[in-house]
Amino acid sequence: MAGTFAGKVALVTGAASGIGRAAAIRFAQEGARVFCADLNLAGAQAVAAEIGSNASAVEVDVASYASNQAMVDAVLAQAGQLDIAFLNAGFYGAAEGLDTVDEAFFDKVVAINLKGTFGGIKAVQPVIAQGGAVVVTASAAGVVGHPANPAYSAAKHGIVGLVKSCVDAFAARGARINAICPGGVETPLIGAADVAMIDPQALPRVPLRGMGSAQHVAEVALWLSSPAAGFITGQAQVLDAALLSTFAPVILPVGP
Ligand SMILES: NC(=O)c1ccc[n+]([C@@H]2O[C@H](COP(=O)([O-])OP(=O)(O)OC[C@H]3O[C@@H](n4cnc5c(N)ncnc54)[C@H](O)[C@@H]3O)[C@@H](O)[C@H]2O)c1
Repeated sequence: MAGTFAGKVALVTGAASGIGRAAAIRFAQEGARVFCADLNLAGAQAVAAEIGSNASAVEVDVASYASNQAMVDAVLAQAGQLDIAFLNAGFYGAAEGLDTVDEAFFDKVVAINLKGTFGGIKAVQPVIAQGGAVVVTASAAGVVGHPANPAYSAAKHGIVGLVKSCVDAFAARGARINAICPGGVETPLIGAADVAMIDPQALPRVPLRGMGSAQHVAEVALWLSSPAAGFITGQAQVLDAALLSTFAPVILPVGP
């Protein structure tokens, strides 16, 4: 889909790292002017520099409504339009079960993941272009429970509800909104090194229920943002190499 986003302006949050970085690079390869937004401004600037002259960095704390608004204002001031918003910034933390989740951790996880996505949606919806698209990053943990991190799972479930609830508001502007729900992805969020970008045709085939790469997720975000997905809105697209699709493989009991 070379040149799919020529003349378009794309905003990516969480663009300093992992999935957001991969998506920012791919949107630019497809011709978009890209705004790389992140709490980590130096990281966002590094990704923008990696992309080149059609990318800019914006500092944002998605947990703040005012910061989301300032981010969108900056895009409009510099580019005059906003066609695509990939609201992807997120935080997982170090929970290892319900008893490790205290009030402060719950509030932080919900503030970044759920309130952060809501703040992005609120800032983007009034100005998104006709034919535009929003993709937000939920998780496989937004579709099924995650005993290790109930706060994260609750926030990601909330994101899926937000997307379904905002379809009409975006349709009124001729725009679409969808969520993506990745399974395990090798990014710094879970302690892996950041992704090395490759030709999309050469992406490795993912082993059943195995880990994906940030670029696998970025490619789906691009597709959902593209005219090819123009009949899709209000969906939560799982991409997980079948993690959620079947029971875990069963070792049949040995007979007597
Ligand atoms: N890696 C996985 O296994 C996985 C699976 C499912 C969903 N996700 C989701 O994918 C999204 C991207 O995660 P990733 O794996 O690329 O992780 P990552 O840690 O590589 O990137 C997350 C980015 O979000 C930024 N960020 C964190 N808090 C922020 C805030 N308050 N304001 C602005 N930016 C902030 C970080 O600085 C970082 O650059 C997240 O929403 C995450 O929950 C990840």
